[in-house]
Amino acid sequence: MGLWTLLLLHFHLAVCVCLPAPSNVSISSYNMEHILRFSPGPGTPPDALFTVQISNSRRQRWKTVAGCQELTAGQTCNLTEKLKDVWDLYTAQVRASRTNQTSQWTRSREFQPLTDTVLGPPDFSVSGCGNCLILQIRDSSWSRFDHNVQLKNLYWEVEFNVKRTRDGAEFRLKLPYEQKSVISHLQPGVEYCVSASFTSILNHNAVSSERHCAFTSPPPPRHTCKYLPVSVRNAAACWIYALCNVYEMLWESDLSPAWLSVLLVLGLVGGFSLVLVLVVCRVIFRNKVQKHQIPCMKFTSQPYSCLMTSLNEED
Ligand SMILES: *[C@@H]1O[C@H](CO)[C@@H](O)[C@H](O)[C@H]1NC(C)=O
Ligand SMILES: *[C@@H]1O[C@H](CO)[C@@H](O)[C@H](O)[C@H]1NC(C)=O
Ligand SMILES: *[C@@H]1O[C@H](CO)[C@@H](O)[C@H](O)[C@H]1NC(C)=O
Repeated sequence: MGLWTLLLLHFHLAVCVCLPAPSNVSISSYNMEHILRFSPGPGTPPDALFTVQISNSRRQRWKTVAGCQELTAGQTCNLTEKLKDVWDLYTAQVRASRTNQTSQWTRSREFQPLTDTVLGPPDFSVSGCGNCLILQIRDSSWSRFDHNVQLKNLYWEVEFNVKRTRDGAEFRLKLPYEQKSVISHLQPGVEYCVSASFTSILNHNAVSSERHCAFTSPPPPRHTCKYLPVSVRNAAACWIYALCNVYEMLWESDLSPAWLSVLLVLGLVGGFSLVLVLVVCRVIFRNKVQKHQIPCMKFTSQPYSCLMTSLNEED
């Protein structure tokens, strides 16, 4: 080390150190893709070129990065292939140079690929399974680490954030990374939205995915209007059917014919008025719908047919 410092000093004395040193030397990393960025120091002439060197904590020797020897201002240096050991601590340094002129080196802070990289969100799908949700992580989410065995061998978890759409109630849970996970003990027929991120005890920089929403089971019919015409008919049919049964029972009992006829009349009048009420309700309801032009409703994933069309279809 001492020898190197001496040599460097000698070198600096031999060439004029009169260019401003670069600033903001930093390594940013997303999904293990490491990119070095820097800004030219204030007053740097536009024809200055920049050189990048790296060293690691094991060898402690500066090595010029091939392909990053003559960068112009604004260019970046791709260090992905150079920082291969995810556990090692790396430092980078950059300096400006021109014919017979160089600047001082400016260093980045120490960078450890494993802890400093930002992990992108998993790509996954959500589907309902009754009172549970099935979360299926797509292969592509994981294959981005294929090139690095060290990474793949780490213990990874996926953190899920589950939010009930109706009231925004939410909870988090961590599950070991699997292609398929199940979140159980949810309410059936209810919509939940789930976001996910990769996580490990050694890396807390994960980015959360967008929310993916799904019903645990098919949603219950929300728009009673759609089913109204059918239910009107069914109600009337049921009523008549029940009435018939009652009369059959009464017929077989020993009631006097006078009583029977009174009951018959009462029953018919009652039934008739019920049907009348239902029909009137329907007519009023339809007029209302036509007047106010209730718009078609969409219920998140499944488009529901419009109130109007469903009523018209019934006719
Ligand atoms: C360095 O970064 C800081 C903060 O991001 C910024 O304010 C400053 O302008 C940068 N310096 C140069 C020379 O670009
Ligand atoms: C950096 O290098 C890696 C590996 O060679 C490559 O996959 C990636 O696309 C490069 N990134 C940029 C921004 O050039
Ligand atoms: C660089 O240095 C050499 C030798 O010291 C000198 O001959 C040359 O003129 C210098 N060039 C510039 C551009 O200063």
